[in-house]
Amino acid sequence: MAVLGIESSAHTFGAGVVENGAVLSNTKAMYRIESAGMIPSRAADTHSRNAARVVRSAMKQAGIGFDDITAIGYTKGPGIGHCLRVGMLTAKTLSNTLGVPLYPVNHALAHIEIARHLSGFRDPLALYVSGGNSQILGMVSEPSRHYNVYGETFDIGVGNMLDNFARAARLNPAWGSSVARLAAGGHYIHMPYTVKGMDFTFTGLLTCAVKMLSEHKPSDVAFSLQETAFAMLAEATERALLLTRRRNIVACGGVAQSGRLASMLRAMAAQHDSKFFAAPNEYNADNGAMIALVAEKMRNAHVRVPERELTVMQKFRVDAVRLWW
Ligand code: FE2
Repeated sequence: MAVLGIESSAHTFGAGVVENGAVLSNTKAMYRIESAGMIPSRAADTHSRNAARVVRSAMKQAGIGFDDITAIGYTKGPGIGHCLRVGMLTAKTLSNTLGVPLYPVNHALAHIEIARHLSGFRDPLALYVSGGNSQILGMVSEPSRHYNVYGETFDIGVGNMLDNFARAARLNPAWGSSVARLAAGGHYIHMPYTVKGMDFTFTGLLTCAVKMLSEHKPSDVAFSLQETAFAMLAEATERALLLTRRRNIVACGGVAQSGRLASMLRAMAAQHDSKFFAAPNEYNADNGAMIALVAEKMRNAHVRVPERELTVMQKFRVDAVRLWW
């Protein structure tokens, strides 16, 4: 009863196999982001070249054949249209050929659900932090079961902010882990801090940090940028924790790979007798296993998906997804 999941919303083409909630395989190939940033058509070309090899390697790693696949999931959105279509077409072709059902999966939901699944928490508050988005969410049952967004960025995702800063600081690769390396040993400089209730913004902080690069040591700027951005996220998450009276927090999405963010959230959770969990990095980075996990939940819940919904959606909010489990 294995389920194959295919992820292709941005720079990663991933394939993973899940059976009864256990991850049997998780493989991927990545488009290398150029200095000008991500070029959607080139990322999609790279995914097209890698798709068959990545899917085959997921099958091999899982130790199964195509006949063992009983359902397929793919990332419907949110993401980059060019990239999403490669995953959708790969999944549709396989689903038609094998005669198994196909499930469109919301990318943010998959990040949250795999973190929740691995944490063992039943009903945690989730901080979803990625390139494209930053949100604080929790599952609610009214009017129907879905993830409610308690707080979110008013402009760009924290990952996008860190990537932009990394490009301005000429770091290679230009993403958050390079900023974290540069920040080691840095000293704090005051930067703009913008939290409104449980929402936040990052563009003012980014503009200030980029300007400061010409006047301060890059390590001090990187350190201060990280401390400020993560403190904003921790403050908003703390407010949501107290408001919703939840006992557990999970962090998920690409930026949840940050050790500094995890340590801030863990310390904050401990102050409120709450537990904190972040999934291993392979599940916070974009991956196919998380898509397979949600597709398996949809299959087990007997969700019927009309053909017209087997599309891609570049903007696809997680709070628009009804949960059937
Ligand atoms: Fe992601």
